[in-house]
Amino acid sequence: MPRPRKRSSSRLASPAGFPKNFTWGSATAAYQIEGAWQRDGKGPSIWDQFTHEQGKVFESHHGDTACDHYRLWRDDVRLLRDLGVDAYRLSIAWARVLPNGTGQPNAKGLAFYDRLIDALLAAKITPWVTLYHWDLPLALQKRGGFLNRDMVEWFGDYTALVAAKLGDRVRHWITINEPQVVTGLGLQDGVHAPGLKLPYAECLRAAHHVLLSHGRAVQALRAGCRGPVKISLANCGPVALPHTRRRRDIEAARRQYFSATAPNMWNLAWWADPIVLGRYPADGLQAHAAHLPEIRTGDMKLIAQPIDCLALNCYNGYPVRAGPGGKPERVPGGWGPGNPRGTLPWLEISDAALYWSARFQTERYQLPIVFSENGFCNTDFVHRDGAVHDPQRIDYLGRYLGGLQQAVREGVPVEGYFYWSLLDNFEWAEGYKDRFGLVHVDYRTQKRTPKDSYHWYRDLIASSRALAGRAPNPALPKA
Ligand code: FCB
Repeated sequence: MPRPRKRSSSRLASPAGFPKNFTWGSATAAYQIEGAWQRDGKGPSIWDQFTHEQGKVFESHHGDTACDHYRLWRDDVRLLRDLGVDAYRLSIAWARVLPNGTGQPNAKGLAFYDRLIDALLAAKITPWVTLYHWDLPLALQKRGGFLNRDMVEWFGDYTALVAAKLGDRVRHWITINEPQVVTGLGLQDGVHAPGLKLPYAECLRAAHHVLLSHGRAVQALRAGCRGPVKISLANCGPVALPHTRRRRDIEAARRQYFSATAPNMWNLAWWADPIVLGRYPADGLQAHAAHLPEIRTGDMKLIAQPIDCLALNCYNGYPVRAGPGGKPERVPGGWGPGNPRGTLPWLEISDAALYWSARFQTERYQLPIVFSENGFCNTDFVHRDGAVHDPQRIDYLGRYLGGLQQAVREGVPVEGYFYWSLLDNFEWAEGYKDRFGLVHVDYRTQKRTPKDSYHWYRDLIASSRALAGRAPNPALPKA
């Protein structure tokens, strides 16, 4: 009897067509994996304080040990090498290198990152370093954090220190991770550290300081690194997706994606327009006129320091259609009840998110795009056969990467993709319950088990490289 043909559930038909210099990567962030929260002279961060307060995080989980990466980093570099990635995005814990945020550096903290960068380079993996992934030194929060304009210089000085130490080897930098979340969840909604619930005007003031800090960091990187560097800031947010391919729905989605009128921080244009175009978006200025911060002469110039690409953390989207007069409207009911999703409520699977975000953003900003995060969370566990089977993550990857491939095929300049995350890790207010990793972590024993998706992604990278005529990574062990 003929065997039934296996149907592929993924949209990624083949790994062909990615440009030769396409960057395949994976990402993590310091507080989510390092642990060692007070080892070797590290100072406390706002996340250390927040998680030590009972009830702030799911089941009062904290990052004191996390994935113990501070101790096990060699194993993790090996996992990256065997995965075959071109690049690894990591973040620096500011309070590890400057325990008080300013002043005396911590030599042991700097040495940790120094060794890590060397090990990555020896494994032929390009480091992409994020300077700020939410773990502000507590000492600086006590001085007002992002509400204090002095933050701009504090961040500039910290960046100069890191550039002086690592800038001879690190060429790829992300200044700030998700300003939307820094201000939205940390300062407006209070569900992330430092847990504030500020009036909107205060949030916009902090947002202005975040943007200025970014600009100052770009200057410090260009001045302090040796050789050419590639710099961006990583934005995030759900993508407005056209409900149909009709022109009016596409136009409605585009307008919705860049609309800056909602009185919250979940906004792309409020951040990307000042950085790339040198001005706040006009519709937002009008809508928030009563809450605007002081904008001093020279501010917009500092914010708009030239950057080299747009980094985007992209996970989800929602359907939008043209209403009466072409006005954008959300499709009622969104994706509908029972739609495919991850274990976190916002992670609704939206196959075309990478495609449309890349297309809309590169049109508006005329810069190449890099997906600095994209990934899927579930309740993965080690099965009785000792493996971690995660077909849903593989399906998710196939869908999203299929969209990315489509964008590349149409000539949209997408330069790289980083899967979030290499390891299961501390997912902020959600603690450890949702797992995003390609590698399962048993938090009691710290045993790492590569999931099925790890092998799938490894094979995809290898075939995409081969089809683009690239040699395999020479640091990879021979099969
Ligand atoms: C992003 C964060 C990252 C991780 C993923 C799931 O918003 O940058 O640290 O938590 O979401």
